[in-house]
Amino acid sequence: MHPDIQRILISEKELYERVKDMAAEITASFSGKDLLVIGILKGSVIFLADLVRQLPRPAAFDFMKVSSYGLSTESSGSVSILCDITENISGRHILLAEDIIDTGQTLSRLIPLLRQRNPASVKVAALLDKPERRTASLSVDFTGFTIPDEFVVGYGLDYAEQYRNLPYIGVLKPSIYQRSL
Ligand code: IMP
Ligand code: MG
Repeated sequence: MHPDIQRILISEKELYERVKDMAAEITASFSGKDLLVIGILKGSVIFLADLVRQLPRPAAFDFMKVSSYGLSTESSGSVSILCDITENISGRHILLAEDIIDTGQTLSRLIPLLRQRNPASVKVAALLDKPERRTASLSVDFTGFTIPDEFVVGYGLDYAEQYRNLPYIGVLKPSIYQRSL
């Protein structure tokens, strides 16, 4: 285990199994419709890569980058599109893939912007959810794991751009982020 990790919250095997089940739930829910999966950079990349490989039907994907926390572990409360998708989403079924829903501010602000482009539908798949932290109303259609209010990294999630390549989800030692506050 990485020395900055306090404990492993979700193992590689648990991630694999749950993402596979999520793909089955998503497939059942979209019954025969082609999907456009939009990954929110950068945290969703590994989740998206594992998810789309478990989808039996055609699924295009694209990416969008929105303003992030930077070095802080708290959400800034506003969102701006830093890098947009290149796909035309009019009339298409959109699945937003997000690493973690924390306050809910990011997606609750992003979804109305996407709806202005007239997609057929917009749904949300989040690998992780921290419902205790929610300050914005947001319906999450597919959730991988509900987790307690602890700062986690790995499987795409970072702290200051580090730890994204850890194959598991781990709780970061608080001493690591308290150092830079
Ligand atoms: P929200 O707008 O507060 O829901 O923020 C969601 C974003 O915050 C996620 O996409 C992550 O980039 C980041 N985030 C929230 N909690 C964590 C965490 O525990 N570890 C790493 N990133 C997090
Ligand atoms: Mg993120």
